[in-house]
Amino acid sequence: MTQDMIERAKAVLRRNDRGTYTVPTHGLYPFQWNWDSALSALGFAHFDEARAWTEIETLFAHQWDDGMVPHIIFHQLDDGYFPGPDVWGTFRTVPTSGITQPPVAGFAARRIYDRAMDKALAAKKARALLPKIHAWHQWFFANRDPKGTGLVAIIHPWESGRDNSVDWDAAFERVPTDGVQPFTRRDTSHANPAHRPTDEQYKRYIWLVQKFRILDWDNAKLHDASPFQIVDPGFNAILIRSCVDLAALADALGEPVIAAQSRAMADKAIAAMETLWSDKLGQYACYDRASGTLVDSPSIGGILATFAPIPKARATAISDRIETLAESCNYLVPSHDPTTPEFDALRYWRGPIWLIVNYMISDGLEAAGQTAMSDRINRDCLRLIKEGGFAEYYGPIKAEPCGGDAFTWTAAMVIEILNTHEIAA
Ligand code: DGY
Repeated sequence: MTQDMIERAKAVLRRNDRGTYTVPTHGLYPFQWNWDSALSALGFAHFDEARAWTEIETLFAHQWDDGMVPHIIFHQLDDGYFPGPDVWGTFRTVPTSGITQPPVAGFAARRIYDRAMDKALAAKKARALLPKIHAWHQWFFANRDPKGTGLVAIIHPWESGRDNSVDWDAAFERVPTDGVQPFTRRDTSHANPAHRPTDEQYKRYIWLVQKFRILDWDNAKLHDASPFQIVDPGFNAILIRSCVDLAALADALGEPVIAAQSRAMADKAIAAMETLWSDKLGQYACYDRASGTLVDSPSIGGILATFAPIPKARATAISDRIETLAESCNYLVPSHDPTTPEFDALRYWRGPIWLIVNYMISDGLEAAGQTAMSDRINRDCLRLIKEGGFAEYYGPIKAEPCGGDAFTWTAAMVIEILNTHEIAA
């Protein structure tokens, strides 16, 4: 059964493999997405290490001169997706979007390096990637933390990956919709519109894209010019974890300067994470930098914080918090608290479960010694696959498969979990 599930997951990766990069799924997402690629590389690494490195290499081949790594690389034109290169207007030889995504590549590179069977290949590939990933991390602190608080802000919901989270609702009110060029969404022709963000949210997504395009995608200007500046604990936890992992990789490869700088960024950010702790919610919360307020929203962003080496007491509290969430759903971990009025079981990031987030939470809890909860989350991942196949995301009450199907990173997480944990599938 376990081997059968692994083989089916590998078939999903092969189906979505475009040679040097992988699409998240056919139809809905026909290009290379940043964090999808880095996490998918973890799956490839279990059966084709060279292909895993290529996935990350291709992503970094499109890094901008300032260090930013874009969230979409439009390798081949496809009008089945909106917004395409004409809307972004970044004018690159191979077009890209102009915003970024959770920087999970540092974590992935270290994990693939540590486990590599082909050590010579891993050292060669990791050595070449090291300064590029480091430049991206430095870019974040230089451009998204202009006041040096230790934590970075996202300036578009798409940067978080959690596009329509309840976390952004209040801040999104400040993003206007006037002046948005008329457009036709394409996502709703590939996936059930009831599982996707609303038209109103899409108008605001596009307003921000137009705003940044007018500023020529100059990252020295975008943060301050954006009416949407959110410090997301989940996003920052991924950045912190990648800095910590890059420091370890740099040590292993004899690059002490990168190691020291990465550790310094991580240490400052870990200390600053305390400012995001909410006693009321019993978890971390987003901070709305533009309004100067903590966002009163119990989402998975504050739980994903455990992916970073936060204090043990906080990890224990988060494990307890997940235990509480389990009382109101059948599968862990819902992307929003099911007891709140905003919870929407099947609508993207307002309730459904995402395996990649489960994996990162479980990994962080395991490192913090919360192994029972870590195992339980991994088991739920496999229960979801059995119920709903390799979907993009799942309902936390009835395990309905939602969004795109034959989804690359979902399959990659299954390969990863089954190869690294003793869980009966
Ligand atoms: C989408 O198109 O749904 C993506 O999340 C944006 O990156």
